[in-house]
Amino acid sequence: MSLPRIAVLASGRGSNLQAILDAIASQQLAAHVVGVFSDKPGCAALNRVDEARRWALDAKQLSSRAAFDEALTQAVAATAPDWVVCAGFMRILGDGFVARFADRLLNIHPSLLPKYKGLHTHRRALEAGDSEHGASVHWVIPALDAGEVIAQTRIPILPDDTPETLAARLLPCEHQLLVTVLQRAVSGQLSPPASPRL
Ligand code: GRF
Repeated sequence: MSLPRIAVLASGRGSNLQAILDAIASQQLAAHVVGVFSDKPGCAALNRVDEARRWALDAKQLSSRAAFDEALTQAVAATAPDWVVCAGFMRILGDGFVARFADRLLNIHPSLLPKYKGLHTHRRALEAGDSEHGASVHWVIPALDAGEVIAQTRIPILPDDTPETLAARLLPCEHQLLVTVLQRAVSGQLSPPASPRL
């Protein structure tokens, strides 16, 4: 039987991607990462897989947002993924991409959604005086960080936390959350939300 195929979109260091790769290597996750796709050709995430599985395109080289979206859609589709995971992908996905993969498209976001969509989530949680922080894995819809939440992880905010200490303490919890959700996904235990997402 062939393994479930996971495509990962990433723009930065790729620690969430690494958590997926490690879970596969240690047989906690029965899946295969079929490709890593990035809008940042030099990013560290790409180097976590062999060259044959890397795809990157600098959006600045293209004439339009739609051109990048189309190229990304074609490249991801060519790997026939069962699941597409945005793991630190810092570009807003186009509607065409979301429509194509909506029933298998997940994102990990470092906040307790619906709080703090977008950037600087750790700082915003501290500024708000929150007593806890966390991360969410959610279905992707065209609106940023707004799709239905599948699962969350929570940590307490400590009195002397800074955005950096909070981010560092949350990161391993994020990794575990993402792997747990993917275990559910690849074993057929994740039902798409009942309501249409587009
Ligand atoms: C993570 O905090 C993720 O939740 C957010 O961006 C960060 C990416 O980290 N979307 P990494 O590239 O996976 O190390």
